[in-house]
Amino acid sequence: MRYFESLVVANQQITDDVFVLQVERRDVEAGAGQFFMLKSWDKELTLMRPISIFKSEPDVLHFMYRLVGQGTGKMAQLKQGDPIRLLGPCGNGYPCEMLQGKVAVLGGGVGIPPLCETAKVLSNKGVNVDAYLGFRDVLFAVKDFDPYCANIFVSTENGEEGYKGFITDLLKPENYDAVITCGPEVMMRKVAAMCAAVNTTCYCSLEHRMACGIGACLGCSIRTKLGMKRVCKDGPVFLSTDLLW
Ligand SMILES: Cc1cc2nc3c(=O)[nH]c(=O)nc-3n(C[C@H](O)[C@H](O)[C@H](O)COP(=O)(O)OP(=O)(O)OC[C@H]3O[C@@H](n4cnc5c(N)ncnc54)[C@H](O)[C@@H]3O)c2cc1C
Ligand code: FES
Repeated sequence: MRYFESLVVANQQITDDVFVLQVERRDVEAGAGQFFMLKSWDKELTLMRPISIFKSEPDVLHFMYRLVGQGTGKMAQLKQGDPIRLLGPCGNGYPCEMLQGKVAVLGGGVGIPPLCETAKVLSNKGVNVDAYLGFRDVLFAVKDFDPYCANIFVSTENGEEGYKGFITDLLKPENYDAVITCGPEVMMRKVAAMCAAVNTTCYCSLEHRMACGIGACLGCSIRTKLGMKRVCKDGPVFLSTDLLW
């Protein structure tokens, strides 16, 4: 993990409130399910903001983010050539090296971006990957999963695209060796319970407000069956069976 300055390669708006930020990679490591703390401001805000790796290319890191507040609002204004500071890679990431056979990646909203890099890494090592992508209404990132997935299932809550309802309705965890999930806690909790019922291994990537992002402030600590854990350093990825929801 290191703290470094980089430059914006592109910052593209892909829906009303979702953007993809591309940043010069500067030879930093980046694993599936890990995240970077980002900062493109000086005075107005102090804390960096955590955003997951959406795609990792040899020279460029891609971050897909939803504009929700001040920090992501500043990010949305970035233009090609603007400076940006990064700290990372942070967190443990998904244990892709341990996974084999058939794996489902299931994401909701901006829990979907980290699953794209994960699907790529798994598919490159010969794992058979299916993607389950749940949206409120407008789709994004679906095409990015195409090269890495045997099947892609999509749902929207209003039924405008794909299955009408929750993406968890479509998942049959007994068909998979493992399920990897990221998104709203209520969704991950449901996935964890479905997997537990059929003894399928399930990994959840938790979200938590973060201050330091490197395990120093303890601000993101949660209680688990294995004791107190820091989401930023010991996670964000946890075995679902270790979590106390
Ligand atoms: C490990 C990790 C990876 C993440 N990856 C992504 C990603 O790939 N793409 C993406 O769009 N977002 C991601 N997030 C969430 C992102 O960090 C927050 O949306 C962002 O920090 C909000 O900053 P802001 O200054 O714009 O919003 P603020 O002004 O700080 O807050 C605006 C609203 O967002 C909520 N919020 C702020 N931070 C979080 C958070 N960490 N979790 C849940 N709600 C929050 C606040 O409660 C408030 O309602 C990730 C969060 C974590 C912890
Ligand atoms: S954010 Fe400081 S310990 Fe996790």
